[in-house]
Amino acid sequence: MRGWMGKFRSLFLFGALTMFLTGCGVDNISALKPKGYGSELLFDLMLISIAIMIFVFVIVMAIYAFVLLRYREKKGQEHIVPKQTEGNKALEVIWTVIPIILLLVLAIPTVQATFDLADQSTQGDEGVLTVDVTGNQYWWQFDYADQEISTSQEIYIPTNERVYLNMKASDVIHSFWVPAIAGKMDTIPGENMNTMYLEAYEEGVYEGFCAELCGPSHSLMYFKVIAVSPDEFDQWVEDMQNIDPEAAPETVQTGQELFNENCMSCHAIGGASAGVGPNLGNFANREKIAGILQPSKENLVDWIVHPDEVKPGNQMPAELVSEEDAAKIADYLLELDHSDVGNDLEMQSVEE
Ligand code: CUA
Repeated sequence: MRGWMGKFRSLFLFGALTMFLTGCGVDNISALKPKGYGSELLFDLMLISIAIMIFVFVIVMAIYAFVLLRYREKKGQEHIVPKQTEGNKALEVIWTVIPIILLLVLAIPTVQATFDLADQSTQGDEGVLTVDVTGNQYWWQFDYADQEISTSQEIYIPTNERVYLNMKASDVIHSFWVPAIAGKMDTIPGENMNTMYLEAYEEGVYEGFCAELCGPSHSLMYFKVIAVSPDEFDQWVEDMQNIDPEAAPETVQTGQELFNENCMSCHAIGGASAGVGPNLGNFANREKIAGILQPSKENLVDWIVHPDEVKPGNQMPAELVSEEDAAKIADYLLELDHSDVGNDLEMQSVEE
């Protein structure tokens, strides 16, 4: 009975672990499949520390096994007390020096990587992109000050270029994390500005997370990093700069009017940042609605009318407009596809 239970238990544990760990190797999401400069550096540090741990484990286990076998109690020797040795100087030195060496081996690349990731030497140089990042409950704002454009939830960057981020929060502490490209950085309200940089090696849509408990919808505070070729990035900037907030197809004019009437005090369409709510200039190009919902009219209407049910605790007022009006607003918003850049990129997601 016990053997059967034991087998069942290990099978269960193995199955659960497999389910859990499969999430770790997904492309464009995992720190274990680095696709950017920062994540690669961090992955190398992980490998070094794991190698050291394995080395220590093997040595300790080998000594342990040797002592167990070699000095175990033998028949006829039950009452013999072995010679007692204390304070062996050579041994004391060895097991003090070895950990020091191991810690040094770990510390040198760690300190090096820390300085490397904090490097800001080329910020402000000609042609070097800087994006202002603001964490909000529960969405991300991205302002490209030099380009005079603003977007939210999806940050576009050119591949193989260092993109500097100046980071703040508008309300509480959040943490910006794109595991496949870079490490984490907190965004903090007030005067304190944090900085980091992104450098993606390949084009793609990379999943980003908020990594600091910031309220009831913290776990829904997803964003995307969309890395495109430098040429495509320039095209995207141009597309974004050319958004005309007045323009809309005739068929969705009622929706546009309703949007301007009800939503424009917080949101913006194109141009600079809206401040209170996300800039929706390229809304229809987004991979997700509100960072989490599949882009469909049905989901959008649901989000407009009942935002609190989708993202508890967020700032958007519930039932501001009727379902009927929300449908018209949704028709309008789904026309806001001002750029084709990045549309061909496939997204992999943890929710799918
Ligand atoms: Cu923002 Cu967690």
